[in-house]
Amino acid sequence: MNEIFETIKKIAFDIDDAIKNHDLGYSDGENSSGESQLKLDVESDLIIERAFREVSSVKNIVSEEKEGVLELHSDGEFTVCYDPLDGSSLVDVNLSVGSIFGIYKGELKAQNLVASAYVVYGPRIELVIATRDSKPTLYRSIGGVFKKISEVSLNEKGKLNASGGTQQNWLPYHKTFIDSLFASGYRLRYSGGMVPDLHQILLKGGGLFSYPATSDKPNGKLRQLFEVIPFALVYVMAGGEAIDDKGRGLMDLVPSFPHDTSPCFFGSKYEIEALKKAYGV
Ligand code: AHG
Repeated sequence: MNEIFETIKKIAFDIDDAIKNHDLGYSDGENSSGESQLKLDVESDLIIERAFREVSSVKNIVSEEKEGVLELHSDGEFTVCYDPLDGSSLVDVNLSVGSIFGIYKGELKAQNLVASAYVVYGPRIELVIATRDSKPTLYRSIGGVFKKISEVSLNEKGKLNASGGTQQNWLPYHKTFIDSLFASGYRLRYSGGMVPDLHQILLKGGGLFSYPATSDKPNGKLRQLFEVIPFALVYVMAGGEAIDDKGRGLMDLVPSFPHDTSPCFFGSKYEIEALKKAYGV
């Protein structure tokens, strides 16, 4: 799997270069969820596909920007599911964005996730890698190479609160719960990019990130294979929890199709317990 992690490091530099130097306009296409694609979405997807074509252990790739599964090496061992440029609509206002990778072995379900990684393209490039046997590790690009910085851990209780979706469409008990966190001193931190938002909560010691079921998106917005399950591994291995709106662990999700979504909550243990009580689950 090390070859996959090293490839992700190379990909990170190439996508960072594209973000900084290439055209920000829209392409002519749509992704499989019917969303308009920026040229950068398409370019980032191609950068990743090209890179994994050189890695024989990667059997298949599944991209947020592609329909279905693409086989790269019939003898490969792993399927890499990825969101090449999450939050790409924030590039034109110069906010941080990210790439997310889930590395699966066998059927595409959370129990078969063996590792995950995400890259934050911000003032610096940072990378977090999670496996099932140790705390996630933070790397930072220094002088054109990724240097290992530290392991990351969540505190039992944090101070930050980030909830996605349009408030008008939140369910009443979600609004009551989020209001109660603010009333007890939590601070709002929400950029609209799940990678920098979850990264901030992780590195600042804890809190809660929610993308709930809403009246317009009853199954949430975030995709299980590329977004929800990879981050669930990071949060769980950092000592936090990751659940859906029924209180089920996100590490037990079984997507019905590659672009399936799920309501999701990632946080420190204290906030997730409080959420379960508020949701009655
Ligand atoms: P996109 O890649 O289409 O910009 O979507 C970003 C995702 C995710 O990164 C973020 O947490 C969420 O959408 C934000 O959605 P809301 O604006 O509905 O809160």
